[in-house]
Amino acid sequence: MSIRVHALMGLIFLMCFMNQQVTAQRPGINQDEAKVPSFTLPEVLKFNDGSHVETVDAWESKRRLEVFDAMANNIYGHVPKREINVDFRVTSSWEVLNGSATRKEVRVIFGDDEECFATLLVTLPKSRSQVPCFLGYNFHGNHTTTDDPKVAITKSWVRDRKSPSTSGNRANEEGRGTSASRWPYRDIVEAGYGVATVYYGDVDPDIHDQFKNGIHPLFYEPGQTKPKKSEWGSIGAWAWALSRCLDYLNEDSGVDGNHVAVIGHSRLGKTSLWAGASDERFWMTISNNSGCGGAALNRRKFGETVAAINRSFPHWFCDRFPEFNDREVDLPVDQHMLMALIAPRAVYVASATGDRWADPRGEYLSLYHSNAVFELYRDAALQLASPAADEPRRTQLRGYHLRSGKHDITAYDWEQYIQFGDLQLEKSRGDSKK
Ligand code: GCU
Repeated sequence: MSIRVHALMGLIFLMCFMNQQVTAQRPGINQDEAKVPSFTLPEVLKFNDGSHVETVDAWESKRRLEVFDAMANNIYGHVPKREINVDFRVTSSWEVLNGSATRKEVRVIFGDDEECFATLLVTLPKSRSQVPCFLGYNFHGNHTTTDDPKVAITKSWVRDRKSPSTSGNRANEEGRGTSASRWPYRDIVEAGYGVATVYYGDVDPDIHDQFKNGIHPLFYEPGQTKPKKSEWGSIGAWAWALSRCLDYLNEDSGVDGNHVAVIGHSRLGKTSLWAGASDERFWMTISNNSGCGGAALNRRKFGETVAAINRSFPHWFCDRFPEFNDREVDLPVDQHMLMALIAPRAVYVASATGDRWADPRGEYLSLYHSNAVFELYRDAALQLASPAADEPRRTQLRGYHLRSGKHDITAYDWEQYIQFGDLQLEKSRGDSKK
């Protein structure tokens, strides 16, 4: 045997060994496609009484509500019945990107006193009026999305980043611009879109404190101390607040309120999917590397599982979700139903080759298994085989790509979302001429 073959075998052995190491470090986590269990998904177009949905009307008037209810009851939780006041106040505005865009900060105030608020950072191109707009959360504070010195630093709790950009769970000046690669403002604005972002921890800090902080307590009935079993966790609360940001964008004369796309990466992609499913005013829904509890099918148990996510993040979902730890087959829903809830509005799912924890194949498959509902609206069927890396696949209403690289949201991802948005806009212009 030649030295080259020996070296190759050594490398293969090392890779297998490393792969086993990864699996061994995370007991119960499978990252081997051959070990994905066989499963049957719940049928989207079958009513709870077992009869079949044949028409758009039957889907929209009855089955869609059954599916929404089942997803809310078992995974994301319902928004409590109690209503609160939400006010908006523009606190500052200025010009950016060499005068080609305006930027403003809008305080979104939850409840009757001024204590609980989120700051929405809105950047709009000046070249057009009433622009389509992306809306999405950021992970570390608005000031991390740009090096613009005027963007205020959040005073809310932030996750410590093991760098000088945070200390004692507070953000500081050092963090300015540190997530700028995730927010390519210039490209977005030049493409004719606005972009609005907000720090998710302003709405509910991403730490399990038994729901004492953030917006949850504003909704408690007298004597209540935590959400009820089928009420929202943090993802439900974040999604609800995106709808409040949409309320503001609808009032902003610079934004075309009929064309607001909700976007999110990772846990915030889970959130954007639930927001898009919950609020039919969202024009497009974009999930970037959202994984378990987002686009990935639970029943595949590839990468992060229901048990793993509930163990690490007990505050994200409703209290009923942990009942399905290691019992995915008993869930009355799976994530293809989340995609279906978005129809006939557009939905885009993106994965990354290096993001096996999020199960790229499972992310694609949930989109594929929403075929039945999208076909009711004459969308073309997606094929079962996943697209190759860096070869985006689109139907009229659905898009998918598998980017080469790690778990992240990059300029390449944004480029695909903008192109997909342009196609949707062309279509709606065509439709309105008919
Ligand atoms: C963890 C978590 C994922 C989540 C990700 C993120 O990896 O397990 O479910 O998507 O964090 O939000 O960055």
